[in-house]
Amino acid sequence: MERLCKAATRTAQVLVVSRHEDYSIEASQFGAGWDIRHVHQLRELERIVRASTPMAGVIDLEADYSDAEYMLLEQSLQHPQVAWVAITNSRMLDDERVRRLIRDYCIDYVRTPFSFDNLLYTLKHAHGMACLHGGQVGEAVGHGKMIGDCAPMRAMFRSLAKVAHNEAPVFISGESGTGKELAAQAIHEASSRRKGPFVAINCGAIPSHLVQSELFGYEKGAFTGANQRKIGWIEQAQGGTLFLDEIGDLPLESQVALLRFLQQGTITRLGGHQSIPLDLRIISATHVDLVAAQAEGRFRSDLFHRLCVLTLAIPPLRERGEDILLLANAVLAQHGQEARRRIRGFSPCATQAMMQYEWPGNVRELINRVRRAIVMTDNRKITADDLQLHGSAENPRRTLDAIREEAEREAIRTVMASHGFHVVPAARELNVSRVTLYRLMHKHNIRVESLPVTGE
Ligand SMILES: Nc1ncnc2c1ncn2[C@@H]1O[C@H](COP(=O)(O)OP(=O)(O)O)[C@@H](O)[C@H]1O
Ligand SMILES: [Mg+2]
Repeated sequence: MERLCKAATRTAQVLVVSRHEDYSIEASQFGAGWDIRHVHQLRELERIVRASTPMAGVIDLEADYSDAEYMLLEQSLQHPQVAWVAITNSRMLDDERVRRLIRDYCIDYVRTPFSFDNLLYTLKHAHGMACLHGGQVGEAVGHGKMIGDCAPMRAMFRSLAKVAHNEAPVFISGESGTGKELAAQAIHEASSRRKGPFVAINCGAIPSHLVQSELFGYEKGAFTGANQRKIGWIEQAQGGTLFLDEIGDLPLESQVALLRFLQQGTITRLGGHQSIPLDLRIISATHVDLVAAQAEGRFRSDLFHRLCVLTLAIPPLRERGEDILLLANAVLAQHGQEARRRIRGFSPCATQAMMQYEWPGNVRELINRVRRAIVMTDNRKITADDLQLHGSAENPRRTLDAIREEAEREAIRTVMASHGFHVVPAARELNVSRVTLYRLMHKHNIRVESLPVTGE
């Protein structure tokens, strides 16, 4: 399995883009582990970005650029290898061109004056995001078709590799949509039987009166309607792997027949006399709690012990941390062309909503939500709304945006009050223009009469 971002184990690269030769970000400020490269010629930027490995970038958006230069910047910032952090100031944020570059292409921005630690923190985050993307477009992250890089998934991949090299039956547990079938395929592919067939049966989907004939097959004339011999699923898996999905839904009488086959290693087709020796690997899975099913008499204990010699547990998606974003980006990369226009990733609100959502339907649900969002969105970046994940109901935690908003509102209220509600000195202290302060007051619905009266 590949590391998510090879660069993460070496130095982290940062591209610093400014037209000014003497731009104030110095390599020495970053310390060990960072490799800083300055770019001053905007004309060269796109070529550099296009050829780069995943990295973070700092873009100077304090300088006044011409329209042509803004276009050059926009072309360069589009490339996903670099995750950008803008440095700007309140004056420049009044410019729609600057706001648009930040909104559409940057992970975050800092306003001057800023603390260097703050910038470094943001850049670490940006570097991580670029690596996520790099891992996803570069070498596969995970095991075969299974994407995953978090600790629980890595542990699962290690177990998977071990069980694959054994012959004993494997039982895979995990909630619905966690990837049990994909794991069964991965075991087959990694096993000595990989050249043989992989036959998957959903035991819950076969009507109970047909289970035996479907599993074991029948001879011509075995029952009315049996006009010709039929080879059952088990026999079709000869030499390969038989995956019994939703084994918890198997009716009791079929459980007896399956147990006999597991004990003897042979089957007899319905209506037949010959016992056929079989050479195959059994993998079973279910989302049902088989321990409880045994206690309630719905599942035979002897069959349970035959099937569960080796076990593999697949973690639910909500326990996989940033893998959620890795998977979402993989779905976007695979299905993005189904959108009406190019989608440039996920907005911060979508990322946050995905990280906080419970995912009861696990990876299957994530694939469905992202695919639907790709088709339905009108935005350049998929939003939480597009994913139909609405923060508040599922998640009482406050978002970073909400915290920033509240801090901004509080700061304005306090400073305004301390200046006796005079906008000019308050704007000066807040280091914004008078117009900006009026706009912010309007945005936060702060009216002079609503401010607390300090001792005047
Ligand atoms: N780790 C993963 N990486 C990529 N795709 C996954 C992963 N896990 C599950 N999937 C996809 O999610 C869907 C549901 O997986 P599946 O194996 O059918 O789940 P289960 O059998 O546990 O219900 C499938 O489309 C599968 O390809
Ligand atoms: Mg399944």
